[in-house]
Amino acid sequence: MKYIKQILGIILLSIGVGIIFSSCTEGDSGKPMLDTSLIPVSGDLEAELTAPPNVPAPIGHRSAKKVKVNMVILEKEAEMSDGVKYVYWTFGGSVPGSFIRTRVGDEVEFTLKNHPDNKLPHNIDLHAVTGPGGGATSSFVAPGHEVTFSFKTLNPGLYVYHCATAPVGMHIANGMYGLILVEPAGGLPEVDKEYYIMQGDFYTKGNYGEPGLQPFDMQKAIDEDADYVVFNGKVGALTGDNAITAKVGETVRLFVGNGGPNLVSSFHVIGEIFDKVSIEAGSMVNENVQTTLIPAGGAAIVEFKVDVPGTFIIVDHSIFRAFNKGALGMIKVAGDDNKTIYSGTQIEGIYLPEGGAIQSMPGTGPAPKAEKASTVDRQIEMGKQVYAKTCLACHQAEGQGIANAFPPLANSDYLNANVNRSISIVLKGKTGEITVNGKKYNSVMTAQMLTDEEVANVLTYIYNSWDNNKSVVTPAMVKKIRN
Ligand code: CU
Repeated sequence: MKYIKQILGIILLSIGVGIIFSSCTEGDSGKPMLDTSLIPVSGDLEAELTAPPNVPAPIGHRSAKKVKVNMVILEKEAEMSDGVKYVYWTFGGSVPGSFIRTRVGDEVEFTLKNHPDNKLPHNIDLHAVTGPGGGATSSFVAPGHEVTFSFKTLNPGLYVYHCATAPVGMHIANGMYGLILVEPAGGLPEVDKEYYIMQGDFYTKGNYGEPGLQPFDMQKAIDEDADYVVFNGKVGALTGDNAITAKVGETVRLFVGNGGPNLVSSFHVIGEIFDKVSIEAGSMVNENVQTTLIPAGGAAIVEFKVDVPGTFIIVDHSIFRAFNKGALGMIKVAGDDNKTIYSGTQIEGIYLPEGGAIQSMPGTGPAPKAEKASTVDRQIEMGKQVYAKTCLACHQAEGQGIANAFPPLANSDYLNANVNRSISIVLKGKTGEITVNGKKYNSVMTAQMLTDEEVANVLTYIYNSWDNNKSVVTPAMVKKIRN
């Protein structure tokens, strides 16, 4: 018996030593090693983060390091399409969020900051993380706070990250997703151009193209009835002057993700054939592909050489999405014709969809003058604007709230019972269970950064809308509770 134990011990020891040795040997095949968790890190660096369609510099031959990622969550209004605005929730200020580039074996120290101007708590679930919730359980962060957690990148590939705060679908639908690349040891093969494209579907109260600030529509999202299906967060993010570019003879690599929340993408470039596709962004490479399927919450890496000049149209080949919902981009290729490959003339703009005008991000306008409302009617009018910016995303356009997540403000017994309590909640926030119209809610409302006038106006608007009790809130009442 004693001998058997000794022999077993020796066998186990040799297996252990074998694993460690093979793990410390960096293969150049791009395949995951036996135990990548044992790759040592040396030194640290600050991760370069880029907004789409740009990606950070390749990792090349660098060794595994401690990589510090600093990401700020920003809730901001921007253009969805010509004349259509939307309140996006973003990782790093863009949709999709900042691109993160690492290599296998890196130790990522991730700091997530929730900007103090934001309304809601958020977190992050990175599909590149091996651990509970992909980091979500360690990264829940309220406005004005930051959290740090770390993880080791064990598997090379291109991974989606997204917010996973309830209601999860709504956070993703508002743009909270992006990509993190984990390169194999030695890096990906060199190419001439690399770009970052991510598809997403959006659900708005108004139909496609209906102007104005459009709130999120929960029912359409549940029904998977998208108004917009777009690349990089809005209609026209990759068309016209925003098109990505290449020169004849260059090799192009697209890091393509799909944030969803609902729809699967049939990713296709009109007039190109993908020489290589990393299927589902894993290690299996397919060649000579026309259209590749990208699941919601998934990605693909596609590569092709551009041989002739012209404008090549990027689409979701579920084709009504491309021409009627915005899923259309462009690669403009400059250079000399090659009549052997293609004899015809490309006409630029031929595939422009109706209504798909070229968009630009709105600049920051001048600060509005702080007008004091002289009548209750004016208070209601001004309060409505505050509501649209501050409350509408959660409590919805008609104050109906969102079932099981955000309580209704319409005909609300809770609201009508106590005006001072409502003022206090707007000023100081509220966590924990409350009962509204017989239903229990347990969500987080954060303190709102509003002036006394704004609080008075928005509450007066709410109290004078949707069958509430027509209370009037004055700035003096707000001031008293603030102090
Ligand atoms: Cu979120």
